[in-house]
Amino acid sequence: MPKKILIIGSGGREHAIGWKIRQDSPETALYFAPGNGGTAQIGENIKIHHIDDLIVFAKANQIQLTIVGSEKLLSEGIVDRFLENNLIIFGPDQSSAKLESSKAFAKEFMKRHSVKTAAYESFVDYHLALRYLETQNFPIVIKASGLAEGKGVIIAENIAEAEIALKSMMIDHAFGNSGTQVVIEQYIQGFEVSIMSIFNGNEIYPFLSAQDHKKIGEAETGYNTGGMGVIAPNPKFTEKYRSLFEENILKPTLAGLKSEYINFSGFIFFGLICTEEQVYLLEYNLRLGDPETQALMPLLESNLVEILQRAIAKQPIEIKWSNQSTCCVVLASGGYPFSYQKGFEIKGLNQISHHAFFAGIDENLKTSGGRVLHIVAQGNSLEEAIGEAYQDVEKIQFQDCYFRKDIGQN
Ligand code: GLY
Repeated sequence: MPKKILIIGSGGREHAIGWKIRQDSPETALYFAPGNGGTAQIGENIKIHHIDDLIVFAKANQIQLTIVGSEKLLSEGIVDRFLENNLIIFGPDQSSAKLESSKAFAKEFMKRHSVKTAAYESFVDYHLALRYLETQNFPIVIKASGLAEGKGVIIAENIAEAEIALKSMMIDHAFGNSGTQVVIEQYIQGFEVSIMSIFNGNEIYPFLSAQDHKKIGEAETGYNTGGMGVIAPNPKFTEKYRSLFEENILKPTLAGLKSEYINFSGFIFFGLICTEEQVYLLEYNLRLGDPETQALMPLLESNLVEILQRAIAKQPIEIKWSNQSTCCVVLASGGYPFSYQKGFEIKGLNQISHHAFFAGIDENLKTSGGRVLHIVAQGNSLEEAIGEAYQDVEKIQFQDCYFRKDIGQN
């Protein structure tokens, strides 16, 4: 077991990964860059952000394993740079990370390898994209091809909305360079499922399914957020859907990775949409999901670091899960996902019975972000987990606290 592990990121996902490692291996020293008020309780927060500085830190402190939380540094090539410096790191190299950082690249990969996905075209020319839109049925999905922190996907109900979305991405650069190329995709009506997995270069090992709740309002209404809650496993993802996923998405993805020599040790997150008949792949992410990770870590019975080490060594992996369920409810700052106030004291943290994975909480235990914390409860049934989670939610107070009351209800 590594004696020193560096976890890069500052959200609930990174707190949950750290919590799991702390459970499995209490003697391992954990460092978080930059971390948050929760990670400070289980390790040391290091206030560095840039790849060069992280390399200097990892070398100086004999870090034996680095785990990268978010997509940004992966797309900037942190894995390549660490490996050049003989540092052990878990995640995809920069060129593999394009499966997340370029939606156009990912869709082309899916098409080449017959991975089941919605019909699409990609454009770098605004006028060609406009002309294409005029020939399409609505609703239609318009995506900025590059990374946009989950905000670069717009469902346009009609041509007027589509033109506004296209102009905002391609002409007004609402998402910076991420919108210079767009993917225009057939809209598929269905329910979403998150499947995270681990890739060891030979096999992809799927985790339990999860259901994210992306909208700010109850019954999936209002604006998109980074995620307002998760349940796991996802009760809608039945055996029928699992075998469709394995046949039409997992197997062709693995065959595609092998035939294109895309070889890394890292996570692959499959964002799925399921209709009555079929499962479609919406996107690949080359990292763990947030808040899906917060809901899954308490259900993972295997030792997480051992799994990562086996993946790095390209060895077969066995993953053991609890047969319980979890419910994760996000407590957010009022006003999120737009502007909100920070600096409020959080009360009741010592009253709760389950997990609190922190996100926007600083080291003085005051609110410092939009999504503030994740309450995650386990139960022998999903209903029990939901009930337990909301009992804990009621014990937490901070000014302008907002949460959805229907996590797991639809
Ligand atoms: N919860 C979705 C994501 O992490 O991308």
